[in-house]
Amino acid sequence: MDRFVVRGGARLAGTVSVSGAKNSVLKLMAAALLAEGTTVLANVPDILDVTVMGEVLRRLGCDVVRGKATVSITVPEMPGHEADYDLVRRIRASIAVLGPLVARCGEAKVALPGGDAIGSRGLDMHVAGLIKLGASVVSEHGYLIARAPRLVGAAVWLDFPSVGATENLLMASALAQGTTIIDNAAREPEIVDLCVMLQRMGAHIGGLGTSTLEVQGVEALHPVEHHTVPDRIVAGTWAVAAVMTRGDVTVLGGRPEHLEMPLDKLAQAGAVVEPLEGGFRVAMDRRPTAVDLVTLPYPGFATDFQPLFLGLNTVAEGTSMITENVFESRWMFVNELVRLGADVRTDGHHAVVRGREQLSGAPVTAHDIRAGAGLVLAGLVADGVTEVADVHHIDRGYEGFVEKLVALGAVVRRETAPVEPWLG
Ligand code: EPZ
Repeated sequence: MDRFVVRGGARLAGTVSVSGAKNSVLKLMAAALLAEGTTVLANVPDILDVTVMGEVLRRLGCDVVRGKATVSITVPEMPGHEADYDLVRRIRASIAVLGPLVARCGEAKVALPGGDAIGSRGLDMHVAGLIKLGASVVSEHGYLIARAPRLVGAAVWLDFPSVGATENLLMASALAQGTTIIDNAAREPEIVDLCVMLQRMGAHIGGLGTSTLEVQGVEALHPVEHHTVPDRIVAGTWAVAAVMTRGDVTVLGGRPEHLEMPLDKLAQAGAVVEPLEGGFRVAMDRRPTAVDLVTLPYPGFATDFQPLFLGLNTVAEGTSMITENVFESRWMFVNELVRLGADVRTDGHHAVVRGREQLSGAPVTAHDIRAGAGLVLAGLVADGVTEVADVHHIDRGYEGFVEKLVALGAVVRRETAPVEPWLG
């Protein structure tokens, strides 16, 4: 139960590098199941979720070897088809094995991951899409069980451009008989990255980056080597940190073209945003101006940036309104910010933030990845010391967060809390 101890006041300055995207690499690892043999992924972040996903694949009979920013996955002729609860509940992304397993093995048994701190996280679109492709899907004893001797291509319309449902249906339809059209599909850069890898494996996919994906199923796919797209959420986190601390940070590896909305909002807040060869620079020399936000699927403003920008607005000049349209309960983080002296009111999908000159350090708790990072950033601009507990959430998505912050001039350290003796 590690925690981060943050002393406020430092101005971040220097260069930080960003590695591959958590929200892509986890699906690329699942996609490896679609082909017998060894797939090698590069630009793999050293984060907890990759370790857990590796364990999910090992339990399915794969040989998984981590190297320096790489992971090699050797898939047997017939992998197992059951992903068990104790792993799935640790990372929701493991639901991404559902599509590949039913397509490759004709059967998939995946534990229902359940909801988490940000929402109910339904799977109805995954299920409805697989049923459209000819699978029978039942939910029993806490498991989703999908069966299909061979999936058959069909037209699927998603009620909402769900990232997870788009990915599962993309991977399932790659080995289906005939053509699948996924309409109202998600368009995130991580979806494009998955499409590119599947194409390299031999899949026929059209409409990359659009809301209509067309997949011509093939008999078999082959393993590949693939370089993971950079993590735009991590890159954006460093940009927000630069603005909150009135610093000057160069983010190497981040792609500004994947961050148009958040970088535009930072410019509106008063920051200098400069695209560079292989990255971008963000600098701020005054108190930021509050900015209004509405979260939407890509290319809209990503919900994963919401906690970070909400934190920014708590110390900005003026009042702002934030509207959360993607996850119905992504406000748990607000109570922790209020502990730091922030003035935030929420009502349904909306939060109203009145910016304050300064927050005051206090003990707080991370409830999810982005909220955790947001609390550390708030601690960087709070008076005194902020202790952020349950930072395993941050380790799930941020590689070397403390080390990189310290290299930029922050005063932060990781403390491993002594395990309390069992009082029985
Ligand atoms: C992915 O989650 C990301 N996670 C999330 O990042 C990200 O916030 C989200 O996409 C939106 O961009 C990973 O890629 C591992 P969705 P996912 O399916 O796939 C509802 C982070 O911090 N829905 O697009 O679960 C759902 O409840 C994480 O890195 C259904 O109702 O997101 C949500 O309200 C947090 N039924 C909305 O749609 C379904 O069948 C969007 O979910 C599917 C989704």
